[in-house]
Amino acid sequence: MPVTILVGVQWGDEGKGKIIDVLTKDAEMVVRFQGGNNAGHTVEIGDEKYVLHLIPSGILRGADCVIGNGLVVDPIALMEEMKDIETRKADVSVIQLSTKAHLIMPYHKLMDALKENRRSEGKKIGTTKRGIGPAYSDKAARSGIRALELLDMKAFEALFREQAEIYNQIFKNADFELMDIDAEWAKLEVAAKYLNPFVKDTVLTVNKAVKKGKNILFEGAQGGLLDIDHGTYPFVTSSNTTSGGACAGAGLSPRHVDSVYGVMKAYTTRVGEGPFPTELANEAGERLRQAGHEFGATTGRPRRCGWFDAVSSRYSCLINGVDNLAITKLDVLDDQPELKICVAYEIDGVRTEDMPCDSKALVKLTPIYETMPGWECDSTSARHFNDLPENAQKYLKRIAELVDANIGIISVGPKREQTFNV
Ligand code: GDP
Ligand code: IMO
Ligand code: MG
Repeated sequence: MPVTILVGVQWGDEGKGKIIDVLTKDAEMVVRFQGGNNAGHTVEIGDEKYVLHLIPSGILRGADCVIGNGLVVDPIALMEEMKDIETRKADVSVIQLSTKAHLIMPYHKLMDALKENRRSEGKKIGTTKRGIGPAYSDKAARSGIRALELLDMKAFEALFREQAEIYNQIFKNADFELMDIDAEWAKLEVAAKYLNPFVKDTVLTVNKAVKKGKNILFEGAQGGLLDIDHGTYPFVTSSNTTSGGACAGAGLSPRHVDSVYGVMKAYTTRVGEGPFPTELANEAGERLRQAGHEFGATTGRPRRCGWFDAVSSRYSCLINGVDNLAITKLDVLDDQPELKICVAYEIDGVRTEDMPCDSKALVKLTPIYETMPGWECDSTSARHFNDLPENAQKYLKRIAELVDANIGIISVGPKREQTFNV
């Protein structure tokens, strides 16, 4: 496996955290390369449940954990997450935070709220309000503050106060709440002192590990359809969630990448706003939500649920260069008498198997389904492909064929042991 990138291929929450935890059994380093604490990656070990937002999911097996330069990091949220996981017996000394990661400041969170509140109906993105978009905006505008500033408290304070004054002026003009800059600085100072020893040149860390031939996993956050370039823009997040993002977001040359895992659910979910062609906004969707416990790991919001969409997933697998799939949550479909798979879209009377790039087309299209019989029995105890009910095997083979990738892993429950290779 030496260098493996793992990404979500749908709209996030595909079960990346669980699969990373399983694969970390053979990995020495796990690297996050984009996003921030908008992510919520769940790992269940025995009766314990962990939800990781910024710390790579490899922490639970003691792997070296890198928070790469491509992330936007809320220092207070990271400190709290590290302190919390320490109380649960994880060793945080394995964590390194890139000097080049950008910091989410309190004014970014306020700006996220301001922009979202002022968007009219139909234009709202339904962000996690963690300040992700505004922090990436400042990075691109070259007015961001990077983690390396945590190493020089005076310089950090000066930069923070300068930017905070500018933002307060914007908030004032917008008739929005103002920041108490002194109070915010007091909180930031505590976090900066705590994080200081973890700030490292992680580009070197990663490349040294690559040179030594170590097994390294790159842990994507969100999913391909939320990618800033390739997703359902503007209803996306603000980073490159696709496999290419791992190179820029960790300082890794594409020459070193050996394989790409794409994680996808056996059906589809989406949290937040934006087009969702196969959404079941009815009783059937509610049944999936209950069976799959589909509530956001970060915000607790109910996730929208629907049938498997082969058109958008195939497109996502293509951009990601997925060679192996990890298909999760098969067990959630155990009770379904029949299953629908969207194989094409009809847009203005024309059938297409290609993903349109205009979100408006995604709203008005009619999904074209093929139907397969369900298996109506328990799959959670299967540990080999051949243990699965025959109709489940057929369903899995069909969705893999439609997205044009191999099945590598099947997951039939949230626990580590409810996973097997194919
Ligand atoms: P991530 O953001 O991609 O890491 O996914 P989340 O953690 O946000 O959401 C996935 C949810 O599904 C979590 O609650 C997992 O514990 C759970 N999960 C993962 N794999 C399976 C599976 O195969 N079956 C079931 N029933 N639950 C799963
Ligand atoms: P993981 O890593 C699902 C969604 C939000 C919103 C949009 C933009 O757990 O799969 P943002 O706060 O990023 O500006 O919100 O993206 N979103 C996610 N949806 N899983 C996630 O992460 C998400 N991170 C962001 O709901 O629609
Ligand atoms: Mg999640």
